[in-house]
Amino acid sequence: MNPMVNIAVRAAREASKVITRNFNRVDRLTIADKGSNDFVTEVDRNAEAAIINVLREKFPSHGILAEESGHQAGDDYQWVIDPLDGTTNFLHGFPQFAISIALKVKGRLELGVVYDPINEEMFTASRGQGALLNDHKIRVSQRKSLDGALLGTGLPYRDFRFEENYMGMLRDLIKESAGIRRPGSAALDFAYLAAGRTDGFWELGLSEWDFAAGAVLVREAGGLVTDIGGGERFLETGNVIAGNVKVHNAMLRRIRPHLDDKLTA
Ligand code: IPD
Ligand code: CA
Ligand code: CA
Repeated sequence: MNPMVNIAVRAAREASKVITRNFNRVDRLTIADKGSNDFVTEVDRNAEAAIINVLREKFPSHGILAEESGHQAGDDYQWVIDPLDGTTNFLHGFPQFAISIALKVKGRLELGVVYDPINEEMFTASRGQGALLNDHKIRVSQRKSLDGALLGTGLPYRDFRFEENYMGMLRDLIKESAGIRRPGSAALDFAYLAAGRTDGFWELGLSEWDFAAGAVLVREAGGLVTDIGGGERFLETGNVIAGNVKVHNAMLRRIRPHLDDKLTA
């Protein structure tokens, strides 16, 4: 495994201390509203600072793109950080959230770490080296079609531009699959897919930090990640389909009729 994974794991563990320390005192946190249904807490900020501290100390020349503090320019290496993915869950005491850290090198995804501090599940992957859950190899599921498939998704909740498109996709995929889950942390949705716990996933309007690490996990676990039209631009558009290869292709066919230019542009 790429030795930089170990540093990212260490950074994730530092953030997890901030998060778990505060999980039972959510009522006493300062919560700011960034916009419609978009909350940020001191926990998001402090967890992010803890991650950046670890990375900066080891790699002072690397760039950073972090959800709360934004962009810091650097060399060809860029860390992409979501310190707490699933803030709404966290604020409700719903134990499904994660820390997500990815590394891009010259724009290409190189490694990903997603940590669920409640279940103590550390998902790691680096390009060409496979994906691990707590040091055990993971693979995407072997399901061959949508029949019997369990799909993850994210519902629109603050940006309703694609509501009609999304509802059409949901209506069709509900009928064809065994069930749909919306747990509320895109980073963990990808990690679960990589571990074969779900067979496919789609969401519209994600930000890069929500799923950059998750995309590495899924790819390294043998799955496919594309944009919603089947192309490579998933990080730019934030409109994404992922799955084992067969389920991914089946989802793409069902989703296609609901696409328009604004989703693929
Ligand atoms: C959110 C979660 C959620 C997804 C949203 C994201 P946040 O991240 O990943 O599952 O549906 O689009 O914004 O705001 O909790 O870091
Ligand atoms: Ca997020
Ligand atoms: Ca976040």
